[in-house]
Amino acid sequence: MPKVLISDSMSNIAQKIFEKNNIQFDVKTGMSEEEIIKIIPEYEGMVVRSATKVTKNIISAAKKLKVIGRAGAGVDNIDVPTAKKNNMIVMNTPGGNSNATAEHAFALIMSVLRRIPFANQTTHKAQWEKKNIKGTELSKKTLGIVGFGNVGVRLSNLVKGFNMEILVNSKSLESRKKDYPHVKNVSFDELISKSDIISFHCKAAADGKPMITKEHYKKIKPTACIINTARGNIVDEKDLNEALNENLIAGAAMDVFSKEPAKENILFNNPKVILTPHIAASTTEASTVVAEMAANQISDFLLKGTKINTV
Ligand code: MLT
Repeated sequence: MPKVLISDSMSNIAQKIFEKNNIQFDVKTGMSEEEIIKIIPEYEGMVVRSATKVTKNIISAAKKLKVIGRAGAGVDNIDVPTAKKNNMIVMNTPGGNSNATAEHAFALIMSVLRRIPFANQTTHKAQWEKKNIKGTELSKKTLGIVGFGNVGVRLSNLVKGFNMEILVNSKSLESRKKDYPHVKNVSFDELISKSDIISFHCKAAADGKPMITKEHYKKIKPTACIINTARGNIVDEKDLNEALNENLIAGAAMDVFSKEPAKENILFNNPKVILTPHIAASTTEASTVVAEMAANQISDFLLKGTKINTV
């Protein structure tokens, strides 16, 4: 009977699926790399969210490991090249948390445009800031979506009805353009210069280089805002901070950071930025779906050799 290690906390639907499939499992969360190295030789499968870093050292120690399942989309916490070299399959659960992430991006857009966090904080303190808070409407504005995968597509569908123009920067859109008549694919430079809201929904560059740096802010509208729910290193935080302080752009909202958990960050306390702790995908619904997908995919692979959503 194969054995799976669940090393991050996730919906217990994963445990139920392994039980139903007669797959043994252990739930051991919050372990250090050394602790995982000690126990990993026992397991054929491993399922993680984002907290466990599946390093080269762990992979080298995992003599029986055949499959690593990521309950989520990004696999940047897994050393995929080393896993592949060691004949391990890495799977993720694309689409499982796309709606949650797109809805959070939309919530951040509205929070920036209507200054909801500031309005909330001040009203709680009995400071009646009515005269100092003037929002901006979505209607007749341009939303720029960088990356048009599951999350970008979902965001573009969510804003239908808000009377917006939607620009997209996507390499893969040309071949499937007919399915998305409500968006226009443009270059990155055109998108950043024409958009009122720029929302990132792409992967980070393999070399870790940010997509948006100081020189880009000169092309952006000074009234525009930037939303990042993708990966922290897509936006250079120092350059963003300077651009905000120099009024090159009006606002930003970040759910992801160059270093997580973010214990210190140059954007902390900048009143023009709204920050959330990488919670875009953290909904009851999405947590269940990604755990269910990961457990089913791992079970199918260990029991039948079926490979689904391999990266
Ligand atoms: C993902 O990659 O699925 C999201 O960023 C959420 C997560 O880290 O689990």
